[in-house]
Amino acid sequence: MLRVALRVALLTCAIVLVLILILGFLFFGDQPVLGISLVTTVLVFFAVYTTMVLLLKKRLTRILEELDDLNQKRFFDHEPREYPDDDEIDDILRRLDETSFTIEKEFYRLKRMENYRKDFIGDLSHELKTPIFAIQGFVETLINGALEDPEVNREFLKKAMRNVSRLISLTNNLMEIAKLETGELKTTLSEIPLKSVILEVVENLQFKAEHEQVQLIVDDVDSDLMVLADRNQIRQVLINLIENAIKYNKPGGTVHIGTFMTPQQGNKKVTVYVRDTGIGIEAKHIPRITERFYRTDKSRARDKGGTGLGLAIVKHIIEAHNEQLHIESESNKGTTFSFTLQNAALISG
Ligand SMILES: Nc1ncnc2c1ncn2[C@@H]1O[C@H](COP(=O)(O)OP(=O)(O)O)[C@@H](O)[C@H]1O
Ligand SMILES: [Mg+2]
Repeated sequence: MLRVALRVALLTCAIVLVLILILGFLFFGDQPVLGISLVTTVLVFFAVYTTMVLLLKKRLTRILEELDDLNQKRFFDHEPREYPDDDEIDDILRRLDETSFTIEKEFYRLKRMENYRKDFIGDLSHELKTPIFAIQGFVETLINGALEDPEVNREFLKKAMRNVSRLISLTNNLMEIAKLETGELKTTLSEIPLKSVILEVVENLQFKAEHEQVQLIVDDVDSDLMVLADRNQIRQVLINLIENAIKYNKPGGTVHIGTFMTPQQGNKKVTVYVRDTGIGIEAKHIPRITERFYRTDKSRARDKGGTGLGLAIVKHIIEAHNEQLHIESESNKGTTFSFTLQNAALISG
């Protein structure tokens, strides 16, 4: 039974009955009117009820079912639906479908974020544990007597310090990532002289490279070359890539940094590459290498003070520039990281 139809039909009947009775008494006197009125009323009741059922029942049921589904977080498939009646009920149905689609999208977006958070916190606590426990171990050993042992006391303090440094770089990198992800760190594009940025970074990393017996070589880069980019962020990208190229290199190895353009594409883009002669990355790792905390060899990366966030930051920055990051590598031969930038000379004319 469709209750709304019943109510409308009953109400209509009541009105019709009253009207007929009044008109009847006014025009025909009293005898025959009552019978006819009752028959008419019953007919009106059925006519109205049936019409209402035909018009509403199917669609009202659909609305209720869809609301139930929504309530139970069951999202129906979104095959294109039809709204042939084009009245208010169809409007409600259409809006309901739209709303359900929006809620579904939002629901899965929040779910994805929640999973991301969970993974992130899991990874993070794992990453924090290692240096903290190491520091605890060294300090305890020192307190328990090693402090008086000149053979090891300095050594242990240095080791503890190294872990403190790791915690610091982890925190710095995390803050950097958080700022990039929340959009707090805005990417502001300006025309920057690429060569001087490269030279500046190379100069700052020279000491590290010498320490690892790795040679940094800047291939010829046009001094007039201007690119459209965020200077600080591109500097960060170069630091992270060149640091990796030094860290995951071999003694006596080299790192080449340079640029090239692709005339086929009208020189619109400048590609910057960092090519090393290091240990390389196995093909199976390459697709995941830019994920945060992903490392091919955890112990080696940790020894070298890595946080596993460097490439995640690089990827964020390159994406914020709407540019591309490429990785090519061969195990034991070396790796080339490259990324594109907008050639500013062509923009300013
Ligand atoms: N130039 C490279 N050669 C070989 N492996 C690399 C190179 N760059 C990065 N990797 C691998 O990718 C991982 C992730 O790099 P990154 O995000 O910078 O973290 P981290 O350097 O802190 O370990 C490294 O641990 C290393 O296994
Ligand atoms: Mg790194």
